[in-house]
Amino acid sequence: MNVHVYDTYEEMSKNAAEEIISLLNSKPNSVLCIPGGDTPKEMLSYLVQAYKLGRVDFSQATFIGLDDWVGVGPEDIGSCQLFLNSNFFHQVNAKKENIHLFDTMSEDLENECKKKDELVEKYGGFDLMILGIGMNGHLGFNEPGVDFGLKSHVIDLDETTQSVGQKYFEEKKELKQGITLGVKHLLNSRTIFLLANGEKKAEIVKATIEGPVTNTNPASVLQQHENIHYYLDQKAASLLG
Ligand code: PGA
Repeated sequence: MNVHVYDTYEEMSKNAAEEIISLLNSKPNSVLCIPGGDTPKEMLSYLVQAYKLGRVDFSQATFIGLDDWVGVGPEDIGSCQLFLNSNFFHQVNAKKENIHLFDTMSEDLENECKKKDELVEKYGGFDLMILGIGMNGHLGFNEPGVDFGLKSHVIDLDETTQSVGQKYFEEKKELKQGITLGVKHLLNSRTIFLLANGEKKAEIVKATIEGPVTNTNPASVLQQHENIHYYLDQKAASLLG
């Protein structure tokens, strides 16, 4: 396990982004998963800048979406799709046909999950899985109590997720269900980055890195991965022993 702690959120983001740039420079056709949320914003902005400087090329990379809110469409502010499209995909040269996000408006969500499972299988897993962490320890929408053996699935959202999730929306939104890659997929990655910043994440970060592996804190399962890297700012790392 590798714990990287930086003085600031900006430093944390820059260092994670530099690793992604190195990966793509050595393996341009990497398969990546990039999360939505507040945490990766600065990292994505750094990647966009690096792209504009000609330091990285995304044209051969494949992107598979991590999760999204069921029933929240791609044009809705607050959807992971809109976030990723506007903060990243539309600003770099990632190819549309290589970007595979969940269709949250599909009438057949089971089939959406099946398609993602087949895709992950086809690519033989991820080269790099980048994750944020929820206040309740969720990874994607693998909520507390989740079965670690699951692949893609639709899940009823935990109360914490329903209320914390309001921050992404301009108006109060009913957030009942999510669609997500499962823990089985997350672990099927050659390398995993878990990013966390800010004081409010300190407690869950401590439980994740130093606590027992338990599905009441899904992120704790990452301890079982042989190539897990935690990217933390000083504040998120402040309770680590
Ligand atoms: P955040 O969300 O980056 O907005 O804190 C993380 C998550 O819920 O996984």
